[in-house]
Amino acid sequence: MTSGPFFEGEVIVLVDKVGRRHRVRLRAGERHSIHSGLIQHDDLIGHEEGTMVTTQLGARLLAVRPTFAEQVTGRRRQTQPIYPKDLGAILVGADIHPGARVLEAGTGTGALTMAALRAVGPSGSVVSYEAREEFLEAAKRAIGETLGELPPNLTLKLGDVYLGVEERNIDRVLLDLSEPWQAAPAVKAALRPGGIVFAHCPNVSQVQRFFDCLRELRGFGMLEAYELLQRGWTVRGRSMRPSHRMVAHTGFLCFARRLAADDLFEPEGEGFR
Ligand SMILES: C[S@@+](CC[C@H](N)C(=O)[O-])C[C@H]1O[C@@H](n2cnc3c(N)ncnc32)[C@H](O)[C@@H]1O
Repeated sequence: MTSGPFFEGEVIVLVDKVGRRHRVRLRAGERHSIHSGLIQHDDLIGHEEGTMVTTQLGARLLAVRPTFAEQVTGRRRQTQPIYPKDLGAILVGADIHPGARVLEAGTGTGALTMAALRAVGPSGSVVSYEAREEFLEAAKRAIGETLGELPPNLTLKLGDVYLGVEERNIDRVLLDLSEPWQAAPAVKAALRPGGIVFAHCPNVSQVQRFFDCLRELRGFGMLEAYELLQRGWTVRGRSMRPSHRMVAHTGFLCFARRLAADDLFEPEGEGFR
């Protein structure tokens, strides 16, 4: 994470009075035009993050560096990234920890890839499979731009995970593709005993098929699924109330643990987490 004054060439975010975000790459001598007027880049370069700038029409905007969530969702994309509300829950639910060896499929925009990279740190590693070359190339560019470079502990692979993977002794597997049950044999082969598999399933029929497949394959336990509904609140002066809109259903977060033997273990109670 960069700190210190804004510098030429970096991408910042201007937040207007209704909360809209405008991404701007700072260039000396240039101007940025928005509906409420013009911003001079020179009024920002060399100034502290958190600076307020004013357009020639008198509109005030807050200038900050984009957060991780803004970086991964704020760019044009060809496929649906995991929503920020789910990213944190996936990292904790799948216990993506420093030093972990993570296998992911599919890479998509690279949003979950980057979240996993942050969580595993330099001592961990992420291998990510993507079936479509154009998506893999776009993810490479997005990750390079967001992190400044492609980190040495990231391996991006063009490949169909349904056909199997060569990785073994993996700590955590993250699946975000339309038919995760087709990846189950590869997951079983790759995950070490005690490892965790996560699958993002927008539809409940996918949850059922994924879990049925794990049961059939055996060697998995602690199957569980949940979803997160995010209800924002408006907090303005004396107005403190739930917002009119929610980020409601995005996907079911499904988890299971790899067992040491070809067994099956599903506790009956709900309170094991
Ligand atoms: C919903 S997107 C993943 C989004 C990603 N999690 C993110 O945060 O940006 C699903 C991706 O899986 C890829 N995919 C689908 N089937 C695949 C397979 N069998 N092997 C590898 N990648 C696959 C698709 O091409 C697509 O890019």
